[in-house]
Order: sequence, then structure tokens, then C-alpha cells
Amino acid sequence: MQPLQLSILAFCLVALCQTCQDTESSTTTKDWWETAQFYQIYPRSFKDSDGDGIGDLNGITSTLEYLKDLGVTAAWLSPIFKSPMVDFGYDISDFFDIQPEYGTLDDFRNLIKKANELGLKIILDFVPNHSSDENDWFKKSVKREKGYADYYIWHDGKVNATTGKREPPSNWLQAFRGSAWEWVEERQQYYLHQFAVQQPDLNYRNPDVVAQMKRVLRYWLNEGVAGFRCDAVPVLFEVEPDENGQYPDEAVSGLTDDVDNRNYLKNELIENRAETIDMAYQWRTVMDDHQRIYGGDTRVLLIETYAPPAYTMQFYGNRSVKGAHLPFNFNLITVPASNGVSASSIKTAVDNWLLNMPAGRTANWVIGNHDQRRAASRYGVANTDAMNMLVMSLPGASVTYQGEELGMTDGWISWADTQDPAACNSNQNVYEQFTRDPSRTPFQWTSGNNAGFSTAAKTWLPLASDYKTINVETELAASSSHLKIYKALVEMRKSSKTLQNGSTKYAVLSEDVFVIKRSLSNSPTIIYVANLGSSSVTVDLRELDKTLTSSLILELCSLNSMKAVGASIETKNLELLAGEALIFTSN
Ligand code: GLC
Ligand code: MG
Repeated sequence: MQPLQLSILAFCLVALCQTCQDTESSTTTKDWWETAQFYQIYPRSFKDSDGDGIGDLNGITSTLEYLKDLGVTAAWLSPIFKSPMVDFGYDISDFFDIQPEYGTLDDFRNLIKKANELGLKIILDFVPNHSSDENDWFKKSVKREKGYADYYIWHDGKVNATTGKREPPSNWLQAFRGSAWEWVEERQQYYLHQFAVQQPDLNYRNPDVVAQMKRVLRYWLNEGVAGFRCDAVPVLFEVEPDENGQYPDEAVSGLTDDVDNRNYLKNELIENRAETIDMAYQWRTVMDDHQRIYGGDTRVLLIETYAPPAYTMQFYGNRSVKGAHLPFNFNLITVPASNGVSASSIKTAVDNWLLNMPAGRTANWVIGNHDQRRAASRYGVANTDAMNMLVMSLPGASVTYQGEELGMTDGWISWADTQDPAACNSNQNVYEQFTRDPSRTPFQWTSGNNAGFSTAAKTWLPLASDYKTINVETELAASSSHLKIYKALVEMRKSSKTLQNGSTKYAVLSEDVFVIKRSLSNSPTIIYVANLGSSSVTVDLRELDKTLTSSLILELCSLNSMKAVGASIETKNLELLAGEALIFTSN
């Protein structure tokens, strides 16, 4: 069959039944990032080397062997640059230097050196949308210094006809509650900030800013990084002022649960603009140019985007222009999940990526990050292995947020201990709705003092309460653990041609059960099945695929499974406990 006929057939299958399918990959040799296991490190909370209660670069360097042992391909570090830490590094006061609490440029060079020796890649966080208000660029811009006057988005504001008072240029809201405009007495103008007041938005309509930010990329590429995770990309450009120089107001969304919150407005003028997509294409050129000049492996661009598929998919590029290697797929993060998740919402999330992704691109799967509650807390502790197995059974790359391999859960943080600006800008009664601190508690290395994270009397955020049992040391010593399952999964994906190149078929069986079949000619078929519900259920895997053999060999099972790896298990009457997840092979 011709590829076109095949895709028509695949489309008909999708339209006719619950089961979805895509075809096997035509290229069998993949570039490193296409099957990579990315691992996100939140440096402040990973490992503290100097006892100040704050994670640092030397701490990370000392743990690279752990990452190597996990089998991950590349570690992405959340921002490590000089910052007043209003948004914990996402407010950068010097894009070319390291935050002193985290170490020095020499420490960073040492980290890269050690990573290279171990064959691990290091990816940095690139925060293009804004700087800190303590950045020299901003200080110069406030003073209208030559070359910097238009580095940020400045506006006189409007005079209210009734009161005669000056008001912000528009009703736009920042992500952390309150107006997106801040008045500066010295310059007698407002500046735009889509995040905290201390995070002024850079002006991408100024070519000097575009060039400066490309300098930032080249600077760190020259230090040997393997690419970037690009922060908050969809908000890079806003609508231009109208012919009278005024910014239009955003329309009201109709969501009235919290009028101070950004959801109150539609945010159609301040995000997801076409110019932003083009900027990502320009950064891709910077990556490719660097590789062409200096050689070595592909330098990757990963894009943070919580946007509708039609917008997100454009980041991949098109026939005439290359885009990001991987726009992050947050579909599994945005599914409704709170101490549990439904199999049908998992299917919808998978559909929404695979059915919208342009042909020939690489999918990716993310279940957590430093902005979300931890995966085990959202999908339910019982589904920890089921979710880790899911992202590694689906086609393409996947991203692990530190601690997902252990099944770490959210820490509880009192109002007094709260650090996150998203929560601090609210109040004691509602902060838990907004706080991102629970997923940022220190990484759990041991069952000892401060979970082995730090020797300090007090760590920057308190530990999560489960560290005595959920930690690296204990899980490595146990005969089976989330960590051991995770390692086996990474190993399996590295060695399985089927997982790397195979076609994908998936379905919901019996309400709570999600099943995936990966197949490739001349390679063993792989079946993933998970019961995400809260009671046991018996399924017939042949409902997914009539051609399945009557029994399958169990390769891997979740911690809560009673089955034995290596056993031959009947396809027809497969009993699954709540949270039980299994991976089978068949020839
Ligand atoms: C991104 C980051 C988040 C940060 C925001 C502003 O969404 O992931 O942590 O607060 O951008 O930089
Ligand atoms: Mg430290």
C-alpha cells in the first residue's frame, strides 16, 4: 500500500472506532533527541553541596552518576543565571552569568566537563520573554539610555476622562494576579510585565533585543550545552498598538470565579501570536548554524507552550522552514486529574497530540514540571508506575521531572513557608490554589537528615513528609521499587526498536483501562496495559487487536502487581488490580 492509502486507512480507522492507530516510522535511524529521555532538574531543590539549604551546581555535578545510572539522555536545568530570585531564577538580572548561590561559571564548566565524560547532555533554560527589573538593560531603559530606550514595552497610559487620573494602557493582566502594567516614576511611563512586576517583558519588535537574545543562545552554546528549553514562549509578542498608539483591551472570558486572576480575560491579544512562531524558527537557525560551524550532535530546542494544538504544532516548522525539535506536549498535564485520572481522558490527550502533529515529526510526553503538582499526587499514588510506563510506551521522546522516577508526592507548605510569587501575590486563604511550591520541595536522596539533600538546619522549602520511604537510597536497596521500574523502562526503550520506530495503536478498554500496542516488522510487539481506576477489572486484550497471540510474556509490572515478570499470561481473561500496569512482549 502507498503511504497515502495507508494514511487514509488510518484515518478511517480513527473515524470508525475507538481504537487509534498511526504508522511505523519510515526512518529507522533516529537522531539522539527523537527517542531521548529528558530529565528536568530544578537546581534550587536537587542537591546542596555547601550546606546553605539551597541546591547548587556542584551539588548537581556530584549527582551526575545517578542520572547516568538512571539511563537518561539529557538533563534540562531550570534557570541557573544571576537573579534576585523573585520567580526563582525566571527573573534574570544577568543572562551571561551564574547565580552566586548556585556557583560560578567555573563550576558550570566543571559540570559540563563531567557530564561529557559520562555521555550526558546538558540543556539550559532560555527565558526570552522577560528579564529581571534588576537587569542592567532595564535600568538603562528606565533612563532612556541610548540603545536601551526601547528594550522593553513602555507606554504613557491613558487619562481617565471622568476622574482625570492616569490609568494603565489596557486591562491586561499578569499571570501572577494583578495588572500587567507597572508605572515607573522616573521614566513617567508604564512597562509591560506578563509575569511578576519584577519581570519586565522584553520588546521583540526591537531588532536589538532579538539580536541580544540570540547572543545569549550562542554564549551558552559556546559553553557546550546541547540545547535549550525555551520558557513561556507563547507570550513573546503582544498585539501592536492601534493607529492612535493605544493598546486594545482584552475581552472578558466569562470565567468569573476569581476576577483578580488572568482567566477573567480571554488573553487573545497578549499570547499565541504569529510573530512568536517565526522567532522560534530564527532560534532554530541559531542552533543549526552552531552545529554546522562547530560540529557535534544536534543542538535541540524544546518549547514551553500551553496553547491550542493549532498554534503549538506550528512550532514544529513546516515544509519550508525548520522549527523547534520538540514543542512540549502538555496534554497529559492538562487532563483533569486530581488523585486519579480516567482512561478516556488519557486517550483524548494522546489523540490530541498524535492526530494533530504534522507528519514526520517527533512526539513527546510530559507528566510533570516545576509549575504543576507532582505527577503521583495528581494521577494518584497508585498510578505512579502506570504513568511512567505510559510516557515511555508512547512514540517519541519523554520528559521526567525530578522525583517522578521515585514516585515523589507534593510537599505541604504552610503560608509562612510559602515562597512562590504565584502564591505570595494571593492570600493565606486561597494560596494553595496557586502555589507551585509543593512540587519544588527538595529531592529525596536518602531517609536521613533533610533526605540527604542538604546539611543545613533549614532548607529553602521544607521536605515532603514521605521522604523516609520515597527516596533514592531506599528504592535502590529494595528488591522492587518505582525507581527500579523506571530504570527498567528507560533500558527497555533504549534497546527496543519497536518502541523507537514502531506503529502505535491504542484504546480504552472497559472504562478504566488504557492499552497501547506498538509493533514493527521483524521486531517483538510491545503491549502496555494499565488499570487507572480504583477497583480491579478483567479485560480481553484482543478487544484492542484480534491478531494478538492467546498469551503474552510479561516484561515489566507495576509495584502493586502480584504477577511475575517472565510469566506467560493469557490475553483473554486478564485481571488487573487498581493501578496495576503491565508491559508485555509477543513475537
Ligand atoms: C514559565 C516557567 C515558570 C515561570 C514563568 C515565567 O512558565 O515554567 O516557572 O514562572 O515561565 O518565567
Ligand atoms: Mg547550596
